[in-house]
Amino acid sequence: ERVDASGLLVFPGFIDPHVHSRDPGQTAKEDFAHSTLAALCSGVTTLLEMPNAVPPISDRATFEERAAAHERTASVDFGLWGQAFGASNLDDLPGLLDAGAVAIKLFWGYALDKRTKKLVYNTGDAAPDDIIAPPDAGDVLRVFEVIGARGGLLAAHCEDREIVLGGERAIGGEIRTYQDLLDGRPALAEIAAVSRAAEFSRVTGCRFHVVHTSTARALEIVRAARADGIPITAEACPHYLLLSDADHERYGSGMKVFPPIRGADDQEALWAAIADGTVASVGSDHAPHTLEELEGSLATRPAGVHGVETMVPLMLNEMARGRLAPERVAAVLAEQTARLYSIDHRKGRIAPGLDADLTLVDPHRERRIVAGELHTKHKASVYDGWTVRGTAVASLLRGEVVMRDGEPVAQRRGRLVRTSAAEAADAAVSVA
Ligand code: DOR
Ligand code: ZN
Ligand code: ZN
Repeated sequence: ERVDASGLLVFPGFIDPHVHSRDPGQTAKEDFAHSTLAALCSGVTTLLEMPNAVPPISDRATFEERAAAHERTASVDFGLWGQAFGASNLDDLPGLLDAGAVAIKLFWGYALDKRTKKLVYNTGDAAPDDIIAPPDAGDVLRVFEVIGARGGLLAAHCEDREIVLGGERAIGGEIRTYQDLLDGRPALAEIAAVSRAAEFSRVTGCRFHVVHTSTARALEIVRAARADGIPITAEACPHYLLLSDADHERYGSGMKVFPPIRGADDQEALWAAIADGTVASVGSDHAPHTLEELEGSLATRPAGVHGVETMVPLMLNEMARGRLAPERVAAVLAEQTARLYSIDHRKGRIAPGLDADLTLVDPHRERRIVAGELHTKHKASVYDGWTVRGTAVASLLRGEVVMRDGEPVAQRRGRLVRTSAAEAADAAVSVA
């Protein structure tokens, strides 16, 4: 199949590095077939899957099992994150990195409920034997040491649990208003965790990535640390870039996400951080729930926004509006992301047998985001009804056309991508 690219912009295939496909374990919410198809239809050619399915990817055997299962349903290429719990799976982290996990995720502040195998923030009255406790600072430091020694990338959901739940001023009460949501997960919880992470990164040399950054101050800490030579970066997500607390009136509980979407100043700081490289990469944090769950109020609705199919159109719209140069779009949605997660060996070279993942964009074509037309399992979006300009009209995956005009033209050909370090090790083994 040929594509006439006249008048189009040619981008490296876009990468979404932050997707929770809930597969296996919570496939009533989403599954890998749907999330990767939705990604494909939007112009994404590589998706990096978060490790907290049920069970989570916390050792090498689970990694390989999950990779094999996902290769049967993937519409785009994919990498897998590994999960660190702290002390309890410290010895499994080198194996995850050797297998080619793109990064290791620490849900800092969360415990694992061993009975449901789900992450929980508030352990309530669970007996100590029922949970893997949230890691203390010493555990977290050891995670930095182990991953740092291997040259791996550690990323974390950055929230200081003690600030949220501990001490006399415990904040985590019932959420009835948007202000309760903001108070429940205060900016200080993110700021405190990010400052600690920067110092841990400094002493261990471990590369660290702050996912879904929500505060201006955390970005300042990352920026200053980088100026000091610390290998730390931040991620931005479309909902923090495009929405602020003032939008709650309009979108209601559709804006319930952790960390919460904060003020206009925080939003502006994220754009500035994209411009100066403090934000290395943009990811959707696609965190789906069922339509029934999503209909709940702030009190009952689980946190998380759908976004795997809207990240690229929303960012292209910002390009069309002049807020983001095409080079920056390529950087935060592909090049820098590929380098950060060590999958740049696939993106840097185009030659026979190597990759040609490309996405062609019509910078002038307008479309309306219609939730009901999305390809995810549940068709929900806080951006329903938004008109966006700049549309991915075709994608090539390893040189073959796989998407035209927002629909798949070939299916089920996604493959696992291991990090360059793991592939280099593989190559060395096969040569020897
Ligand atoms: O709002 C959120 N939802 N934040 C997270 O970090 C987890 C996510 C989910 O998995 O639902
Ligand atoms: Zn998170
Ligand atoms: Zn997430």
